[in-house]
Amino acid sequence: MAQLWGGRFTKETDRDVYLFNASINFDKRLYAQDIQGSMVHADMLCKQGIITQKEHDDIIDGLARIKEQIEDGSLEITDKYEDIHSFVEANLTEMIGDAGKKLHTGRSRNDQVALDVKLFVRGAIQNLDKDLEAFQKILVRVMEENLETYMPGFTHLQKAQPVTLAHHFGAYYEMFRRDRHRIRNIFRNTQECPLGAGALAGTTYPLDRAYTAENLGFLGPTLNSMDSVSDRDHVIEFLNALSMIMMHLSRFSEEVIIWNSNEYGFIEIDDAFSTGSSIMPQKKNPDIAELVRGKTGRVYGHLMAMLTTMKGLPLAYNKDMQEDKEGMFDAYDTVTECLNMFMQMVDTMKFKKDVMAKSAMKGFTNATDAADYLVNHGVPFRDAHGIIGQLVLKCIEKDKSIEDMSLEELKEISPVFEEDIYDAISLKACVERRLTTGAPGVSEMKRITELYRQDLAVDSNAAYFTFQKIDQN
Ligand code: ARG
Repeated sequence: MAQLWGGRFTKETDRDVYLFNASINFDKRLYAQDIQGSMVHADMLCKQGIITQKEHDDIIDGLARIKEQIEDGSLEITDKYEDIHSFVEANLTEMIGDAGKKLHTGRSRNDQVALDVKLFVRGAIQNLDKDLEAFQKILVRVMEENLETYMPGFTHLQKAQPVTLAHHFGAYYEMFRRDRHRIRNIFRNTQECPLGAGALAGTTYPLDRAYTAENLGFLGPTLNSMDSVSDRDHVIEFLNALSMIMMHLSRFSEEVIIWNSNEYGFIEIDDAFSTGSSIMPQKKNPDIAELVRGKTGRVYGHLMAMLTTMKGLPLAYNKDMQEDKEGMFDAYDTVTECLNMFMQMVDTMKFKKDVMAKSAMKGFTNATDAADYLVNHGVPFRDAHGIIGQLVLKCIEKDKSIEDMSLEELKEISPVFEEDIYDAISLKACVERRLTTGAPGVSEMKRITELYRQDLAVDSNAAYFTFQKIDQN
């Protein structure tokens, strides 16, 4: 137990209390952010004449060595120190002597941890954005290859109207497109640097907060020192975005599970991404999709936990806020892992196009088109709806599809039907004629995939995040 405080205390902290209070076992993950913040803080202290050039150089050198040693494994982060901040400072002082003790001038662990967490969120967003982009590329590839792969579209999980696989996957592309926008907006909302807020009330040293902010990649310093150390909105926003990604992945998982079922048989999950049963030799289970669906609850849980942790906290820093990290790390790791597993599963999945097309032909998915046929021949839509309803009932009695009925049978229901009805309600025609913006018609979905390709080409990760920095200045 090596602590940063003690002057005021007459006895040592109880060992269990020390461990209960410590965060090192999880905040060690922030070592790089912590060191980055300390280096820029030291640069600023030197620029402002608060520490000497020599002290500055020793501090920078020491911090660089600590980072190196953590990364090559020669310096182990143990619970001898309460948190990562104490760990770095103590090791620095051990390495370079008294200059190390000056690093904390004009700073508190409260603004330090606020910075570390914010830097983590900003970095995590950039990584996540890359993963989402990789997934979008897989989705758009599947779309391009399946512009004419017909399948039933569902409402209430009942066959409704025919669509294409490209169209269906396009819906997921849109969800992940929104997810990318959402996380980028969080990035925009975390453009202010809390470092220099001190414990809560700033400091009497002549800090240059704009300098530290800019050199840490922010647009400027935060404008209220109390808010700076007590704000965890970005953690909650990030958890919210992670929850939304999981919600989307979970819906996708549910469909993969349904499509993979014996009854549907729309897809074949690659052997490498499915598992067997210990007792039933015939089984090939969609465990990856089920796990992704299952892990969604865990990520939502972290969002609820953080909202609840923050709800009653008076200003400014309270130790409750130490609870911000574990849930966020776990949620981020869970989403990253799920996304990577899921996208590879989709990338290697086989689509049984004939099964999909056959399924699209059953279940009267062309009933709306049959009604549209009547409308095009002058029957008011409401009447046409009723006529086709009767027709469907007849078909059910005879165990036939609409297109299996003879022209005489059709004419019994309505004299308006002619030979061209069969072309009008063919699967191809039903899909082809749907050409409104965002509809499944082949040329429309082709246009949309081209837009997606353009979007993916110009909207690259690096370009966006650099642009953000310049744009807002
Ligand atoms: N480990 C603490 C946290 O994660 C760091 C800040 C500690 N500040 C304090 N005054 N105890 O929130």
